[in-house]
Amino acid sequence: MNIVVAESAGFCFGVKRAVSMVEEQIELHPDKKIYTYGPIIHNENVVEHFRQQGVEVMEEDSDPASYENGIVILRSHGVSKKVQENIIAAGHTAVDATCPFVKKIHNLAKDASEKGDYIIIIGDRSHPEIQGICGWIEGRDFTCIETEEEAENFSLDDSTRKITVLSQTTFNHKKFHDLVEILGKKGYDIYALNTICNATEERQDEAARIAGEVDVCLVIGGRNSSNTRKLYDICRQKCPETYFLETADDLNREVLCSARSVGITAGASTPAKIIQEVISKCQK
Ligand code: F3S
Repeated sequence: MNIVVAESAGFCFGVKRAVSMVEEQIELHPDKKIYTYGPIIHNENVVEHFRQQGVEVMEEDSDPASYENGIVILRSHGVSKKVQENIIAAGHTAVDATCPFVKKIHNLAKDASEKGDYIIIIGDRSHPEIQGICGWIEGRDFTCIETEEEAENFSLDDSTRKITVLSQTTFNHKKFHDLVEILGKKGYDIYALNTICNATEERQDEAARIAGEVDVCLVIGGRNSSNTRKLYDICRQKCPETYFLETADDLNREVLCSARSVGITAGASTPAKIIQEVISKCQK
C-alpha cells in the first residue's frame, strides 16, 4: 500500500514557533509559574501535555492580577495592546509568541492609524486574531468587513481621508480581492495590503491534490478545529473514502483493506506525534 503524507500537514510555522517557545520557557524557568494566554493551540492533547509540566491556561478576558506572578506566553494569533499591557501591569513577564506574520499586521495597523488613516480589517470580527489587530489601532477608528454586503454598505464621512485595508491571515484570497474591489469603486483613497498567510491555502491545495490521487484519505485533527473540518470537506469532494480521525485510535483498519493508496493530511493544530502514529498504524 502506498502512503502519501502531505508535507503541509499539521502545525504551520507560527504555531510550531509558539509551541517551541512554551517548551523553551519550561526549560529556562523550572522554578517559575508559566501560563499561556488562552490555550496555546486548539488541541487538547498538547494543552494537557503542557499542563502536566505545570503550564496553566490563563483565561482570556480574566484579570491577570488574579493569578500568581509568572511568565505569560502570548499565542500565535496575538493579543491587543491593552491585553499585553494589563498582563505586564499585573506583574507578569509577557513572552510574545505572536506569529511574525500577525505581528506585522499589528505594526501596519498601528503605523497607519498613527498617520491618521482610517483602517478597514477584512476578516471575522469575532476571531481573536482580529480582536488583537483592532487593539493596536490608535484612536480606535476602524471597521471590520467580512461580507460583500458589509463592503457595499460601508461609507466614511470624510471622503478624502486615506483608508488602509488589511486582512486576517486566514482569509480567502479571492474573497479579499472581491471585497477590496467593491470598496475601491466607492472612490475613496484606498491602500489595500494583502496580509493573508499562504499556509492555510497551501495546506488545502495539497490536500485536494493528494485526495484526488488516492483510494482512501485520512484527515487528522480535533473535532472542534474548523480548519480540519474544512480540510475534510475539501478531501471528501475529491475522494469519497475520506475519514476524519482525532487520533490513531479512530482509524478502523478495515477501511484500508482494499486500498492501494492512502493519503494523509492534518489540520493546523495537529501535533506531528499524532500524525506519525497514524502513519505507523497504516504501515502495520
Ligand atoms: Fe500560521 Fe502564522 Fe500563518 S500562525 S497560519 S504561519 S499567520
